[in-house]
Amino acid sequence: MRVLVVDDDPVQRRLLMRALAPLEVEVWEARNGKEALDLLRDRLPHVVLTDLHMPVMDGLELTQSLKAQDPLLPVILLTADGEREVRLKGIEAGADDFLNRPVDLAELRLRVKGHLERRRLQEKLEDLERTLLVLMRAVEAKDAYTAGHGERVARYALLAAEELGAREEEREDLHMGALLHDVGKIAIPDHILRGDHPLSEHEWRLIREHPVRGDEILGPLRAHPRLRPYVRWHHEKLDGSGYPDGLTEIPLLVQALSAADIYDALTSVRTYRKPLKPHEALEALEEEARKGKLSREVVRAFRSGLLRNRLLRA
Ligand SMILES: [Fe+2]
Ligand SMILES: [Fe+2]
Repeated sequence: MRVLVVDDDPVQRRLLMRALAPLEVEVWEARNGKEALDLLRDRLPHVVLTDLHMPVMDGLELTQSLKAQDPLLPVILLTADGEREVRLKGIEAGADDFLNRPVDLAELRLRVKGHLERRRLQEKLEDLERTLLVLMRAVEAKDAYTAGHGERVARYALLAAEELGAREEEREDLHMGALLHDVGKIAIPDHILRGDHPLSEHEWRLIREHPVRGDEILGPLRAHPRLRPYVRWHHEKLDGSGYPDGLTEIPLLVQALSAADIYDALTSVRTYRKPLKPHEALEALEEEARKGKLSREVVRAFRSGLLRNRLLRA
């Protein structure tokens, strides 16, 4: 891991760098904000430790500029005791932490260590998220017609969720759930997914297993309980005719995902038919509501979400 030390006083810089030595991190140094930014053009450090008053570019300006590049990069500002006004400005600029001068070196080490650990954890989470998306692309690549399906479905479902008044955390889960809803298709042989021949009864059964397969695949994730309804139930219907569980009560946001899924399937190109126009696909959703398979409230929200975002003409 890398720590950047920014201070115009060479003696102070040495002192800080020596204090960090036991952490066994790579330490970079710069004499002011401008030099720091130049140094970081290719690669960001994991923690930045910066002096406040420096010529050319001070610590506040540097903090602002770093936070604009990466809002989660930890920045520690070194301030003199009693600089309350400056601290407030520092918080405003996005600084994560403050250390009083003269610096207590043991405290400095502990603070930097804490920020490094949090940063490492956060990078791990980001990597996990990216891995999931890579996995989804692999699934979508099995069928030329489903490229980008997850992302489009997520977008449509979120439009409906907003109309339904979903909270931010709910929308985040819906987003992830929508991206991953078909992940279980990875367990289905490619020739079945390609859809270039009429499917046998046995092949249909395999396809209809994908929500359960997906539920199993995501099992080890900490977010599994929150993502599960989307992955497992996106083919359920309110009249009990859906699969895999034949539910007759389905959470509204899961229905928003089902509606988005149907809508995207109908409006994208398939081998066996031309794509429907937005208003035609919406009519198909309204038909689902009339048959009691989808709630009217969800279809209404879906329609107004499309209208509001000009994806449908009134
Ligand atoms: Fe599906
Ligand atoms: Fe789907």
